[in-house]
Amino acid sequence: MSARLVRRWSSARPQDRIVYRDVGSVPPSHVDAEWIAAAFSPPEKRSDEQHARLAESDRLIAELMAADLVVVGAPMYNFGMPAPLKAWLDNIVRVGVTFGFDRKRAGEPYWPMLPAGKRLVVLGARGDYGYDPGGRQADANFVEVGLKAPLAYIGLRDATSIAIEYDEFADERLARSIAAAEGAVDALVDRLIGERAEPLSARPLSPVG
Ligand SMILES: Cc1cc2nc3c(=O)[nH]c(=O)nc-3n(C[C@H](O)[C@H](O)[C@H](O)COP(=O)(O)O)c2cc1C
Repeated sequence: MSARLVRRWSSARPQDRIVYRDVGSVPPSHVDAEWIAAAFSPPEKRSDEQHARLAESDRLIAELMAADLVVVGAPMYNFGMPAPLKAWLDNIVRVGVTFGFDRKRAGEPYWPMLPAGKRLVVLGARGDYGYDPGGRQADANFVEVGLKAPLAYIGLRDATSIAIEYDEFADERLARSIAAAEGAVDALVDRLIGERAEPLSARPLSPVG
């Protein structure tokens, strides 16, 4: 689905830069005690080692900052997202960089720091079925909520999700689910590109896929 989305987008807007990050093949490192100590130290007080420890997070955040459209391909593993995708998420949710926190602040102590106007598309794949709202396993689906909640927290609030179900059954229900998801991806790309063509949103675009 993500490949389909990117192909359709690129054929309509070949001028747009696509950044492809395969967290399955090259997993981001996991957040650990050293990472947390570095991220929660003021930048001017960080040691060289701490700056080095955050370099990967800096790169991933720079990609996100530059992107207008973030497309996440997210298979369901044990009701949640795969660990490398969670590692990516943990690297980009960073205090003082992608979200602010001040316990003395009046009202809401947290605020998002990503520039406004970015969009998120989550493309899911599930072996079983019934994970969408109202479905028999909706309460056990931690993929979409697990991505959308932290990404909204840092400022990516405009989110759309499309998923394929029945992968394990490999029957006509899977075929129907794939066809519906592909149609939804095509319609979404056409809608987003249509909105881009409007004068108000006419600006350079760098989607991340
Ligand atoms: C380790 C593992 C755990 C999985 N856990 C679930 C699960 O909890 N629920 C589910 O519906 N499918 C589960 N599946 C099936 C996958 O979500 C499904 O096959 C999906 O299509 C995989 O994505 P892909 O086709 O992009 O590889 C699991 C598959 C694997 C390999």
